[in-house]
Amino acid sequence: MLGLKLPTDPRWVNIVEKNIEEILTDHAYCEQKAASTAISLIIGFPEKSELVKEMTALAREEMGHFNMVHDKIINRGWVLGRERKDEYVIELMKFFPKGGSRETHLVHKLLYAALIEARSCERFRLLSEEIDDEELSEFYRNLMVSEANHYTMFLKFARKYGKKEEVDKKWEELLEYEAQLMKDLGKKETMHG
Ligand SMILES: [Fe+2]
Ligand SMILES: [Fe+2]
Repeated sequence: MLGLKLPTDPRWVNIVEKNIEEILTDHAYCEQKAASTAISLIIGFPEKSELVKEMTALAREEMGHFNMVHDKIINRGWVLGRERKDEYVIELMKFFPKGGSRETHLVHKLLYAALIEARSCERFRLLSEEIDDEELSEFYRNLMVSEANHYTMFLKFARKYGKKEEVDKKWEELLEYEAQLMKDLGKKETMHG
């Protein structure tokens, strides 16, 4: 599914279910970071008009998701906590060497974004299928569809702005690296943990 090389251990859902407040808090910030990434792509590559248009729509959509998660937190009588660090994303972003041309930098940013969307989509699917909470199950089923579209959009842009064969090779290597990271994850009540 989604090209991912290693599926999440379904037992991760049992960990998540014990702490819904924590997963919703972490999830809210995943949406905020997705919006921030879209905005940073606009700032970094303003001459790519198609990208700017799509990132404008995406930033809005991701903040819409943030708002939906925030409502879930409020409706359950909680208050949004402080931002959680995303160790998965921090480790993932160590993969491509720093430096290189602007175009290379863009391709790397797009591939990271594609992968984060793909893994989020996989996690949402797992939650929608396994979580006992019916309201959240439906919520995650709907979100899963949006994230799958985001994954294909980022990959499409990476192939558009980079050399296709090179991009495909980098994508394969990144997927392998991510699968290695995943071996130690799936043990925490965070969206990518
Ligand atoms: Fe989202
Ligand atoms: Fe997304």
